[in-house]
Amino acid sequence: MRLLPCVAFFTFAALCSTVHPTTAKNYTVFVSPLRWGFVGCGRITNNFAAAVESLPRSEHILQAFASRNATRAEEYKARFGAFKAYGSYEELAKDPEVDVVYIGTINPNHFEVANLLMDHGKHVLCEKPLTLKADEAAKLIQRSEQLKLFFQEAVWSRFFPAYQRLRQELPGLGDIKTVMVNKGQTSGRYSQRLYRKELGGGALKDIGGYAIQFAIQVFGNEMPEKISAVAQLNNETIDTTTSLLIQWKNGGIAQLAVSTLAEMPNEAFVFGANGTIKIPNSFMQPEHFELERKSKTSTNTTKEKYPVPKVNHRLTYSGGAAGGTGMVYEAQEVRRCMQEGWLESPHMTHKDTLAIMNIQEAVLKQIGVNYDDLYKDGRYVGSLLNSVYDGV
Ligand SMILES: NC(=O)c1ccc[n+]([C@@H]2O[C@H](COP(=O)([O-])OP(=O)(O)OC[C@H]3O[C@@H](n4cnc5c(N)ncnc54)[C@H](OP(=O)(O)O)[C@@H]3O)[C@@H](O)[C@H]2O)c1
Repeated sequence: MRLLPCVAFFTFAALCSTVHPTTAKNYTVFVSPLRWGFVGCGRITNNFAAAVESLPRSEHILQAFASRNATRAEEYKARFGAFKAYGSYEELAKDPEVDVVYIGTINPNHFEVANLLMDHGKHVLCEKPLTLKADEAAKLIQRSEQLKLFFQEAVWSRFFPAYQRLRQELPGLGDIKTVMVNKGQTSGRYSQRLYRKELGGGALKDIGGYAIQFAIQVFGNEMPEKISAVAQLNNETIDTTTSLLIQWKNGGIAQLAVSTLAEMPNEAFVFGANGTIKIPNSFMQPEHFELERKSKTSTNTTKEKYPVPKVNHRLTYSGGAAGGTGMVYEAQEVRRCMQEGWLESPHMTHKDTLAIMNIQEAVLKQIGVNYDDLYKDGRYVGSLLNSVYDGV
């Protein structure tokens, strides 16, 4: 067994050199620094802002925070040393000194917030799931491409060094037979956002995308031939534990399980004819990568460690090994893409997002969950519930 030494601050850029054929130059190159706006001052915005704040000021600037609650926006502005705070999303959308906006609001309003930002010509990084309904995601993507704006679902896992290693090593695994992924956490008991339907809760939509994105990283983003799912629903008819079996045209099978009520190992495996790749806990924010290569005569195991860089702020959701600090890779990737004038990252494409959305939509039908009653005339009807905000 070969144990590689720790890689202190991984030179991610070095591994990002592949140019995707669809990434032509679409808008003016942004001379650094990139000026970030943040919409929704909740828990994950805290973590993403902390990640951006840890990066060089010559490359990333925290320009403005917006919340429905002006006091909270002021708190976030002060916490991260930003320049402006707004008590409405629209004011931030109109700020000419904001280049790109991170959307950290609850799932059901991503669609209208992203549209508002695009109305004002903003590039957007939007938290997962991009939308609750697949047709909304397709509309947003089409609109961003027409307007020539960078637009990205914030599937931050894709930008970790371990995923880069995954992409590099997949060809060497030979014929890939199956992928196994599980993601289970008990936070669904406590966080209204996860178990209340009117806040867009549900295991498949909220965390299922992490498992699905892993499978399509391996098998590709064409729609699978077969999808079979079972689920447990709560009394609001949203899923709390869901298992899926997916098969693609080439025979590849993914076995995925997600839960908001049960702790699971949070590991991902790729099993190929010539070996196995394992992304240990947590596969969605990994600091480790393991590869076992088999030949007729020997087995060679490699374990690599990619510690995430440190940030200067207290983080929410720090249960996983990497906490939120691995969000730096995502922020760096957004800047890299925007410097190139790209509309999407080659490591998490619009087609990847649409594949996730369409698989989720097929699963929702099978398990009897739908979010239609959250919308009227295409708009989120809203909720008087405030998703848990712990003041971190
Ligand atoms: N990448 C990751 O690892 C990760 C982890 C957790 C969550 N997420 C995603 O990030 C997003 C936010 O999650 P979170 O855990 O940060 O949520 P949160 O702390 O509960 O709240 C997020 C924000 O949503 C807005 N909001 C809350 N209740 C609302 C309501 N009833 N109507 C309209 N807006 C409301 C608030 O914005 P204002 O400040 O404007 O009031 C709040 O600050 C979700 O899409 C989630 O799926 C991603």
